[in-house]
Amino acid sequence: MFSRALKPVGTLAVQNGAKSFSTSPQRNFKVVVAGAAGGIGQPLALLIKQNPLVTQLALYDLAPVTPGVAVDLSHMNTVAKVTGHKGPEELPAAIKGADLVVIPAGVPRKPGMTRDDLFNTNASIVRDLAQVVAEQSPKAIMAIITNPVNSMVPIASEVLKKAGCYDPNRVLGVTTLDVVRAAAFIGEINGVDPQSVQIPVIGGHSGVTIIPVLSQSKPAVKLTDQGKIEALTKRIQEAGTEVVKAKAGGGSATLSMAYAGARLANAVLRGLNGESNVVECAYIKSDLTEASYFANPLVFGKGGVAKNLGYGALNAYEQQLLKEAIPELKKNIVTGEKFVNK
Ligand code: NAD
Ligand code: LMR
Repeated sequence: MFSRALKPVGTLAVQNGAKSFSTSPQRNFKVVVAGAAGGIGQPLALLIKQNPLVTQLALYDLAPVTPGVAVDLSHMNTVAKVTGHKGPEELPAAIKGADLVVIPAGVPRKPGMTRDDLFNTNASIVRDLAQVVAEQSPKAIMAIITNPVNSMVPIASEVLKKAGCYDPNRVLGVTTLDVVRAAAFIGEINGVDPQSVQIPVIGGHSGVTIIPVLSQSKPAVKLTDQGKIEALTKRIQEAGTEVVKAKAGGGSATLSMAYAGARLANAVLRGLNGESNVVECAYIKSDLTEASYFANPLVFGKGGVAKNLGYGALNAYEQQLLKEAIPELKKNIVTGEKFVNK
């Protein structure tokens, strides 16, 4: 998964078992996982520990097991030095000096719940984490996995605004799992390697706000029947619920989310590292539509989001999906903003 980042970095020699370690001429990054002991946090930390661009990996959680998760990961022979931080009093040290703070802290859905039902519990968690990011590492990029993403990104943004350090290019909602799922399903339909599928998923991260732009899929989706295209769209929109139901009360997507989160983290780090043309979708502050936050393909660079690529041409069906998504997105955004400014 990290093959493009691996090439120029000295750690490759270590991973291949070579005797000498040549120091990388590139920047070394500190990544924090907040919510690191959870269903997403642990496998996400496992994947980030393998990223050769990361030299410090700080794991933060409330759970008593957190220092143990850090010790466990620290025995992996990859370059990142791992530290464990448990409880709010240890949070500032975890965040200090961070380049990227990935946040899967908070409660997941159970069957019958919507992502919005998580708002009351998760809003204060994200607000408090954003406050410490503002105080300790105001230039860090925040990548928010916690649901409901559509409202959590506005919450973090409002906190950073109040603290006087808001940079819209550094606050991201993680929608990568929608892209990963769309590519997986299209790969299956087309009978091709899903890794070869490129598909933008725009809008937000809940129900009707998830808009897979199937007309822009590369390769083209091998479906001509409009009914089948609509069924595939629905499946992508409801894929999170598919997992919640299948786990039958045991939580929501964790492993596929960790994979998707590590992919987004890698894109951010490659951008910070000066690589050009690193493109991923994420949910950010936006003036493309009436919704003031919106997900679509972005170029990542040294300051976070370097360029917003927009969402290109939509067919009539996709335009209709967009029309349905905007009022929901606007509502979710206002809910988040009001929570901080009440
Ligand atoms: P989980 O319950 O397994 O783990 C959450 C972790 O957060 C726990 O270890 C808990 O101790 C920790 N935590 C709680 N409050 C905290 C705080 N104040 N500071 C630090 N850590 C805290 O849940 P999970 O399955 O890992 O899911 C986490 C979140 O991610 C949920 O809100 C879920 O809905 C969301 N999610 C988002 C996506 C996406 O695509 N963006 C995908 C899957 C899940
Ligand atoms: C997902 O899409 O899997 C996550 O948002 C978790 C959920 O509640 O569906």
